[in-house]
Amino acid sequence: MPTMLILLPYLLLMALIAFSATPEAESTSGCPDSCGGIAIQYPFGIGTGCFRKGFEIICNQSMNKPVLAGTTKPVPVNYLSIRTAEARVMLPVAWQCFNSSDTVYAWSDGDVKFNDEEVYRISDTNNQLVVIGCNTMGYTQSQQSEGNDYDYGYYTGCMCYCNNSRSPMDGACAGVGCCRLDIPPGLTDNRMSFNQYTRKGRLVYSPCDYAFLVDRHNYTFHTADLKMNINTMKPVWLDWAIRDNLTCNEAKKDAESYACVSPNSECRDSSNGIGYVCNCSMGYEGNPYIANGCTDINECERHLEYPCRGVCRNTLGSYECKCRSGSHSADPFSDPCNPNFPLAAKIAIGAIGGFFIVAVAVFVSLLSKEKRKMKDYFRKNGGPTIEEVQKIKLFRKKELEHILNRSNCIGQGGFGEVYKGYIRDETQPVAVKKPKIDVKLAGQFANEVIIQSRVLHKNIVKLIGCCLEVDVPILVYEYVPNGSLDRILHDSNRLPLNLDLRLQIAAQSAKGLAYMHSEITTPILHGDVKPANILLDEDFVPKISDFGTSRMITVDENYASTIIGNWGYMDPEYVLTGLYTSKSDVYSFGVVLLELITRKKALDPDNNIILGNSLDTYAKKKRVIELVDPEIAAIGNTGIFHSLAEIIVQCLSSDVDQRPEMADVAERLQYLLK
Ligand SMILES: *[C@@H]1O[C@H](CO)[C@@H](O)[C@H](O)[C@H]1NC(C)=O
Ligand SMILES: *[C@@H]1O[C@H](CO)[C@@H](O)[C@H](O)[C@H]1NC(C)=O
Ligand SMILES: *[C@@H]1O[C@H](CO)[C@@H](O)[C@H](O)[C@H]1NC(C)=O
Ligand SMILES: *[C@@H]1O[C@H](CO)[C@@H](O)[C@H](O)[C@H]1NC(C)=O
Ligand SMILES: *[C@@H]1O[C@H](CO)[C@@H](O)[C@H](O)[C@H]1NC(C)=O
Ligand SMILES: *[C@@H]1O[C@H](CO)[C@@H](O)[C@H](O)[C@H]1NC(C)=O
Repeated sequence: MPTMLILLPYLLLMALIAFSATPEAESTSGCPDSCGGIAIQYPFGIGTGCFRKGFEIICNQSMNKPVLAGTTKPVPVNYLSIRTAEARVMLPVAWQCFNSSDTVYAWSDGDVKFNDEEVYRISDTNNQLVVIGCNTMGYTQSQQSEGNDYDYGYYTGCMCYCNNSRSPMDGACAGVGCCRLDIPPGLTDNRMSFNQYTRKGRLVYSPCDYAFLVDRHNYTFHTADLKMNINTMKPVWLDWAIRDNLTCNEAKKDAESYACVSPNSECRDSSNGIGYVCNCSMGYEGNPYIANGCTDINECERHLEYPCRGVCRNTLGSYECKCRSGSHSADPFSDPCNPNFPLAAKIAIGAIGGFFIVAVAVFVSLLSKEKRKMKDYFRKNGGPTIEEVQKIKLFRKKELEHILNRSNCIGQGGFGEVYKGYIRDETQPVAVKKPKIDVKLAGQFANEVIIQSRVLHKNIVKLIGCCLEVDVPILVYEYVPNGSLDRILHDSNRLPLNLDLRLQIAAQSAKGLAYMHSEITTPILHGDVKPANILLDEDFVPKISDFGTSRMITVDENYASTIIGNWGYMDPEYVLTGLYTSKSDVYSFGVVLLELITRKKALDPDNNIILGNSLDTYAKKKRVIELVDPEIAAIGNTGIFHSLAEIIVQCLSSDVDQRPEMADVAERLQYLLK
């Protein structure tokens, strides 16, 4: 008893809600709402006063099936949709049959004559036209028209033919026994026609022709269909619409006849024929053709269609989805809500935040100190002077930092370190040289860079720019891919080098040096000529590198005596006198030539003798020829080796005056090359 008392108010409420919902049904009260399991909703209806003009449905009691009213033959309905404005009905096939005298003796055009209101159109999107027969053309025509060449506005069809009884194939509707085609929108009728062609010899397996519209996805040809029952009906989709006004805009003007009566409904022009259809607005569903037919969708009850990972709240026409306070999500409609900050995290963040501020302050002060330092270096390294030289690019420290990385290091030695990297949008390969130079020399650096910037020769490595914002200025050179002559000559997996190539390398290196010595206004001496300082590009064109030391020799004699130069290549005269001249470079080049044709290291203990300057000219020359690399000795003619030996011996002469000038060497080598 007490439970009943508690429940009572609730039951009353339920009854009220149920009652308040009934008025909608009242408009069509007394009308059957379904037939044969198919829902019949306004504008469709069964019985007087239940349907809009043109939408009458008859419920055939004996078949227990809805059929369209007003048609000349029964059109059973399989499916009716208010939402998509579609109906699926059964329509008869058209046919013609031949007798033994090759004459059509019976036929049907399949027409059913929909009602006069013409609310239906054959759906062009969901149907196809199929013609079956063994020598026929079938077509449909529609929309009576006057004043044209033909009687109808639409004709469309196809031909099929069979050579013999075995030519039609199951599943293939491609013109043999069966053909199919898409249809245009706007078809109003199911009327078909055939062109008659002879049936001689085919009567047995194909006595009749057929043509029919059918659901695109519902028909597959079978050879048995060549003898199909003439009373067959096929499922066909119809598009229906309110057709008494042409468009939505016109229809809206006439409030009395306007069909979209429900609030929250919308009108859409029909896509198949004139007229319009109604639809419930977004967020609403139901029947837009009856008063208050469109009702709000409670999205929160349909998680699959309307996802929400947070707290869902239904609103009219839409819904909200939010995370509970204290939690968050980038998109609560699809991503779960996560708690914002647990207390522990808050404390941690506070602590980290405090630390962070201090760290930033320290960092900023360090940064400004570093900046000041960089500016100092820039000035000290002659930045203001170099800035005026157009050809040299001044790099910022941070532009090169990514290159000066242990993994990019491609060379190391007394001079410092060389790194390979890319500048200019990572496309131009460069060699970045970080020299080990005494800081006291940095003052002369600007001068040095400027001189190098003037040197432009294809046999001299090009200086692209430099960075002055560091204590020892960094130099950026073009990258020469094949490495040094030293590596090419003496690497463990040495490449074969023919005589021509060696002569070419020699001649062009000599040209580079000659250019430095005599073709520019302020001659520059190299000071450290050796195979390791002759680089080779992809075509083995030599490029002299490492002019760094040279300038310093000429400017600062004191320093020169402590030069790191390689003893194997160093002019003994210079060691004795401390006077470095262009002939000292010539001496070193002589050693390089020797190395080039013998492929033996200058410092090798075995051939130390060659370099000793105590031997006389003749003995030296003889030894040179004896030592020629077997790889080239066989091919080259001895004349060339004699000439080469001559040059080498002269270059190595202990009498400085007997050594030729670099330009002379270059010329003679070039001559030999020819
Ligand atoms: C109902 O269907 C039967 C069988 O197809 C047909 O004979 C009869 O004429 C139909 N009745 C109406 C009212 O259409
Ligand atoms: C009505 O709207 C729904 C959802 O937007 C859509 O799927 C349907 O095709 C529309 N129907 C018509 C007749 O426009
Ligand atoms: C074939 O049909 C035509 C037209 O109905 C008729 O005139 C003719 O006699 C028929 N021939 C045979 C062999 O039945
Ligand atoms: C066409 O049919 C004839 C008679 O049945 C047959 O001899 C011929 O090989 C067929 N041709 C093709 C291409 O199928
Ligand atoms: C074709 O439509 C008919 C009638 O609606 C149905 O019985 C049949 O299963 C359908 N066939 C296919 C392949 O969809
Ligand atoms: C719309 O249709 C109604 C009913 O058929 C008709 O009275 C009215 O004149 C039509 N309006 C237009 C603009 O065609």
